[in-house]
Amino acid sequence: MTVTLRPHVLFNSEWDSPLAWKSALALQFDDLGFSTPDDTHSPDAVNIALIWKVPREGLHRFRNLKAILSLGAGVNQLDPAQLPDGVPLARLVDQTLTDTMVEYAKAAVFRCHRNFDVFERHGRLEHWQYVAPRLARDTTVGVLGLGELGSAIATVLRDEGFEVHGWSRSLKPLAGITSHSGSNGLAELARRCAILVNVLPLTPETEGILSRSLFAQCQGTRLINMGRGGHLVEADLLDALASGHVASATLDVTAVEPLPPGHPFWNHPRVLLTPHVAGLSSPATAAQVVATNIRRALAGQPLLHQVSAARGY
Ligand code: NAP
Ligand code: GLV
Repeated sequence: MTVTLRPHVLFNSEWDSPLAWKSALALQFDDLGFSTPDDTHSPDAVNIALIWKVPREGLHRFRNLKAILSLGAGVNQLDPAQLPDGVPLARLVDQTLTDTMVEYAKAAVFRCHRNFDVFERHGRLEHWQYVAPRLARDTTVGVLGLGELGSAIATVLRDEGFEVHGWSRSLKPLAGITSHSGSNGLAELARRCAILVNVLPLTPETEGILSRSLFAQCQGTRLINMGRGGHLVEADLLDALASGHVASATLDVTAVEPLPPGHPFWNHPRVLLTPHVAGLSSPATAAQVVATNIRRALAGQPLLHQVSAARGY
């Protein structure tokens, strides 16, 4: 691939280490410019934005941007109105991110499958009650979203012996996993699955998808939300927990993060909160795909994992 431009990366994240990313990317390029919004002295030299969120002062002063590369698998934190027109956007695909998401899903699914959520609640009430254990093959798990992360999660759960169903926009030929799509497919997942794992991207179509109409199909389902807080209608979940349609919820993401003090999810006996820790990327493993996308962008080629503006993911 012929690249004549010198790469200069603008880096912006409140979570990710600029030093670790700079060192990891420096191994990929002989000559690399790298700066944060506060120490960028020549905005015109910047041609790549590697960001979790849009910097406070926006991106419009970087007139030579060739690509915006998200530091997350999700891109909904990047408001399209704040992005310069016509600059391609890519989401992050990284093995460490996938592996951490898979481990979280396994932990959360097994916690529900072996009734630890029930025993934690009983323990707080000093209530000793036997509940017979089941094997994974007797538990049906539904995975909402069968993309990079959802298909890895579904496959690992299948290998653990669970009966796995998945839901996505298009049907997926994944061995040993029953694939569904459309609103009927979603209702079927809700009716059949004891545990539902959400790992969808947040788009106008998926916003509020975990809501009253879905919960009405559930019968004591355990819900695990690893997608985004905007997928869940929080008041509907509280009602579904009270009615028993949903037996417990494991929430890694909430509409407002951090969850505000006094929110009804805090101390709810049927809710386990984790502070958006399900997945974490690593510059050591992710630098290669980011470097490939930098080279593609500077050579005028389409990006890997490019986000479709029409689909929103
Ligand atoms: P991806 O590869 O783009 O996969 C998205 C999946 O969702 C695809 O299977 C897609 O269907 C499906 N989908 C999208 N819109 C749909 C709709 N309207 N109806 C049905 N299915 C729909 O994304 P990914 O890399 O797996 O990441 C998924 C999400 O995980 C991210 O966007 C982010 O929200 C979340 N995440 C959370 C954390 C965390 O720490 N909690 C970390 C990383 C990511 P098709 O396959 O048919 O296109
Ligand atoms: C984290 O939430 C991500 O989107 O990677």
